[in-house]
Amino acid sequence: MDSALLTQSYSEHLARLEHSYGEVLTQNGLDAIVIHSGSPKLRSAFDDQYWPLRVTPHFQHWLPLTAADCALVVRAGHRPKLVWLKEQNFWEKPPALEHDIWQSGFEIVHVGHRAEAQQYLPKTRVAFVGEDAQCAAEWGFNQADFTPKPLLTQLDALRVRKTAYEELCLAEANRRAAVGHTALAHAFKSGDASELDLHLAYLRATAQDDPQTPYKNIVALGANAATLHHISYGRTAPAGPAQSLLVDAGASFLGYCSDITRTYAKGNTAAASTFAGLVAGVERLQQQLCRDIRIDAPYEALHDRSHAYVAEVLRETGVLKLSAEEAVASGVTRSFFPHGLGHSLGLQCHDVGCASLKPRADNPFLRNTSNIAERQCFTIEPGIYFIDSFMETLQAGPHAPNIDWRLVSELSKLGGVRIEDDIVVVGGSSVTRNLTRQFLPA
Ligand code: GLY
Repeated sequence: MDSALLTQSYSEHLARLEHSYGEVLTQNGLDAIVIHSGSPKLRSAFDDQYWPLRVTPHFQHWLPLTAADCALVVRAGHRPKLVWLKEQNFWEKPPALEHDIWQSGFEIVHVGHRAEAQQYLPKTRVAFVGEDAQCAAEWGFNQADFTPKPLLTQLDALRVRKTAYEELCLAEANRRAAVGHTALAHAFKSGDASELDLHLAYLRATAQDDPQTPYKNIVALGANAATLHHISYGRTAPAGPAQSLLVDAGASFLGYCSDITRTYAKGNTAAASTFAGLVAGVERLQQQLCRDIRIDAPYEALHDRSHAYVAEVLRETGVLKLSAEEAVASGVTRSFFPHGLGHSLGLQCHDVGCASLKPRADNPFLRNTSNIAERQCFTIEPGIYFIDSFMETLQAGPHAPNIDWRLVSELSKLGGVRIEDDIVVVGGSSVTRNLTRQFLPA
């Protein structure tokens, strides 16, 4: 990571945020927006243990500080002010700062408790961005000041188009994750580790503790790959070595996330070799979808196109006997590929700014309904799975004769395939930059 480049790009990022928030303040007739950094959540209502903090994304958009119960005061024409609560805490200490590039951009006041913070907070024409109205009240704000929905939508939209600084962070998050994926590919090919062993090997390779990963690692051997978010790791290696591994795991840098999936096949059985062909088919269609990205085109149209490609791969593999058009029109491909093609990525693994519109009813799980625009970052993650409940429904339906059930039964033991990269829309003749492939080639 080039530190000078990071510092320079961060100061441009900050200047852009100051400008954008200035516009939002004017449009909403506000003097100030106060953003709370967040509080750790109770693990159970019946206990006094807490989950590690997940910082409010609006706060982290400004600065990569992972500290609970701080407030950022944004006013037009003023340096942003960080009210940094440093309470005496002999139980825990906050994580070390990963970088201090941000500190000179802020007026920083340290306070020992919340009451002391009051003197630094604006009182009129202010909106409070935080988790809930109770948090707003604890900071001395009224219910009416608490994150009005239209304002929140405007602030969420500011995170959609990434600055050069954010692209650097996202690329570094990809570089870090790629080290873990490479280690797991090797471990799978050369031994018979359990899912838990592979998960722990990923954490070790990426030097992350579990709570620091952008989302819980998905590590699935064999049939478990048909569970889209398989996180109940097996503690022992499967009897009869697993012939497939799906790893969906990321890393973070200064709050920014990567989200990468790879699927591997091994073994000499006929099913393993057909499954390897399926992996190659999904790899090919995923790369084609990356090439199909066009500025101004609806992301949902790309998702629709992915179903046509999935149908082709299912036909090539011998699973489907329907034409690709029939397979898509009849909804059959939705039984094999039930999730969305991808989602916006940034400070949150599933960032929300590209999902402000509902998808069509036949795409219920699509999390990106935006028109593709320069500087967006999103995932492209098609998949093909053999999920028991969907296969049972299909087998009982009118298209059952058009499916090779013997093959489905064999491939079910290997679960499914997903391939996922993180893409930034850079425009120009290349249109996109694939942040993942530069560190994790096929
Ligand atoms: N990669 C995990 C998810 O997108 O839900």
